[in-house]
Amino acid sequence: MTQPLIDIKGVTHAYQTQSGPLPVLDNLNVSVPEGGFAAVVGPSGCGKSTLTRLIAGLMKPDTGEVWLHGERVKGPRSTVGMAFQNPVLLEWRSILKNVLLPLEIVPTKLSKKEAEDRARHLLELVGLDGFEDKRPSELSGGMRQRASLCRALIHQPEVLILDEPFGALDAFTREDLWQIMHRVKEEEPFTGVLITHDLRESVFLADEVIVLSGRPATTQYRLKVPMDGPRDLEHLYTPETAEMLAILRHQIEIAQGRAPAESSEVAE
Ligand SMILES: Nc1ncnc2c1ncn2[C@@H]1O[C@H](COP(=O)(O)OP(=O)(O)OP(=O)(O)O)[C@@H](O)[C@H]1O
Ligand SMILES: [Mg+2]
Repeated sequence: MTQPLIDIKGVTHAYQTQSGPLPVLDNLNVSVPEGGFAAVVGPSGCGKSTLTRLIAGLMKPDTGEVWLHGERVKGPRSTVGMAFQNPVLLEWRSILKNVLLPLEIVPTKLSKKEAEDRARHLLELVGLDGFEDKRPSELSGGMRQRASLCRALIHQPEVLILDEPFGALDAFTREDLWQIMHRVKEEEPFTGVLITHDLRESVFLADEVIVLSGRPATTQYRLKVPMDGPRDLEHLYTPETAEMLAILRHQIEIAQGRAPAESSEVAE
């Protein structure tokens, strides 16, 4: 079997708080193959954002190991791109300059012209052509999130981490962004981890959904989502999707302690 691109092996982590250690992750194992797109769902506060910080090398686990592309993660990595629920765009820079920002921090082989062409291409890909010279406040929430996605992709990251990127958007804008994500993934190969509270989003975008248990989180359930060709929104209304959503909903109830636990399972 080929080595997974993201490999989280037996990670356990606790935060040191004033009232003592707070165990957050407990012997967590997650692996994502190259080009894979995993969605991570689980109860609020179970440790999902903590997991993203560990993958990005922004934090070290107490025990266990995080590997990216065969290298052990020991610090922040430039091969990781991140986007969050509230995109922090700099108001004094144009949208184009916001997208180019990571290249001022991370070394790049691209010339100024190539970098700008790439930024323009990404903006076009997400439907923001014509907005390059606007300021962030001139854009809607959905547009700002699209710009933030371009910024996360500008340095061609191997790994893209999305922590509830569409959580603050209305339902229709969110669905637009899901379709844009499919388009982006087709053109810009990356290995993705998506944190979400939206089960429909998880089965629409990901090829595997990982359900974390309540805190301290461990992998409670994994659901493989069959990827047969491009997906459109109709996909959300098929009996197969309804069945997957019912399974995931039930698993979330177990994770929340609202339904009795079953032995851990992996669905194909
Ligand atoms: N820096 C920190 N110091 C202490 N405790 C923290 C810290 N960061 C997070 N926590 C705690 O760790 C737990 C997990 O936090 P985390 O942000 O990873 O959860 P989450 O699954 O992303 O939650 P949500 O779904 O609400 O975004 C929470 O109880 C949180 O209060
Ligand atoms: Mg979080």
